[in-house]
Amino acid sequence: MKRKNLQPEMQDDTPPQILVVDDSTSVRYAMQKSLTEAGMIVTLASDGEEGLARAMNSNFDLIITDIDMPKMDGFELCTRLKEEFKTSHIPIIVLSTHDSDEHVEEGFRVGVDAYLSKSGNIEENIERIKDILTAKNFLTGSKILVVDDSSSVCLFLEKELREEGFIVQTAENGKAAFDMLPLFKPDLILSDLMMPEMDGGELCRTIKKSVEFCTIPIVIMSSLADKALMRRLMREGVATYLIKPFSVTQLSIVIEEIFSSNFRLLLEEKERLTMEHDLTLAAIASLVQALEARDSLTRGHSERVAIIAMGIGEELGFKPNEVERLQLIGRLHDLGKIGVRDDVLLKKDRLNKAEYEHVKGHASVVANILRPIKSLHDILEVTTSHHERWDGKGYPDGIKGENIPLKARIIAVSDVYEAVTSERPYRDSMPKAVALAIIKEERGKQLCPTCVDGFLRWYEKTGGKTELPETFQP
Ligand SMILES: [Fe+2]
Repeated sequence: MKRKNLQPEMQDDTPPQILVVDDSTSVRYAMQKSLTEAGMIVTLASDGEEGLARAMNSNFDLIITDIDMPKMDGFELCTRLKEEFKTSHIPIIVLSTHDSDEHVEEGFRVGVDAYLSKSGNIEENIERIKDILTAKNFLTGSKILVVDDSSSVCLFLEKELREEGFIVQTAENGKAAFDMLPLFKPDLILSDLMMPEMDGGELCRTIKKSVEFCTIPIVIMSSLADKALMRRLMREGVATYLIKPFSVTQLSIVIEEIFSSNFRLLLEEKERLTMEHDLTLAAIASLVQALEARDSLTRGHSERVAIIAMGIGEELGFKPNEVERLQLIGRLHDLGKIGVRDDVLLKKDRLNKAEYEHVKGHASVVANILRPIKSLHDILEVTTSHHERWDGKGYPDGIKGENIPLKARIIAVSDVYEAVTSERPYRDSMPKAVALAIIKEERGKQLCPTCVDGFLRWYEKTGGKTELPETFQP
């Protein structure tokens, strides 16, 4: 079976097909249960021979095998699978109680992708299996740009790499290749060295100087005589080189190695971003808590505004990630009040003009607090605008209508409902019906009509409930 030749964005959502080969009935069924629960389709085989036969007759995305089995053991099964053209590309995981260094080494020698211990944690093993499937999908459909002035070399490599499941384009020299980069966006460039117009060396230097493309790995192919030059090119940023003539197997190994290390880097980067994101959210939660700790009556205000805003967002057809953004904005919108003096923030009487002006400053202050956090740049304008009015009579800038960011208009409606139905230092809370009447009255005046309509639909469905989860601790 060839690799699935799909564009990454076109990869189908069909569940991965997994073959589990193990002579222990209990292990087979335990694996089947866990993998099925993880959304995979599982086929079982009770020894190496049956496993090989099933692998030859079906298209599996991954094979998980035991070592000690009758008829054919796991190592022999791996060797046979790697020898067969139809199955050589399928990732193999060994799941065994034999996890000594010698066993693991032997596993990798016969082409195993990962070695998991049966005594290990089952959830961790399933996560590892998912990682290997993701890595496989990452490789499938990767784009390779072949650059060579020999059309026969281009044709040959194009055919071989396409058969391996890669998406391939060719260029006749470095200049043509560089011109193709913005449109084709290759994941790897495989380039000849000696070419007219722009040779492989110059192509490499030009790419490494470009901000947009400098991370694309480049493999240089050339004859033995150019070895010293190729070593120099590697110092200049070429990922590796292949001495001509080389076999298709050598080429495949080089490409997979480069993609695997790139994939590892991407995974690490993803983990780093997730950690940064979590830390940012934790820091924000602390800031909101610090603000709300000063004023017991507004405790939970931001969280309730977030709940309402998410409800309106859903009614307006926002995608889940945008709804999640609204939650964050709701939590943060009043963070600028951290800069409002206690004597004003906690004042029980009406604010005088100077005090009111001081409070109004909070809308702009929040952007100053959050500006150092790059991942929040898209919400700075929204938080600044949450007191703007549809009729242009709001603050800080007096912008009106659709010039106010949509998410800020959503927060404005949520803010009115929450403020009216909550207790304030200078008044008791008011019934929901009053808040509803005020919001309907302000539709098209203070508040955006679309957002009010979204709010009313949310209210209809939920009865305006904004109960905080029991775990919520301001
Ligand atoms: Fe506010």
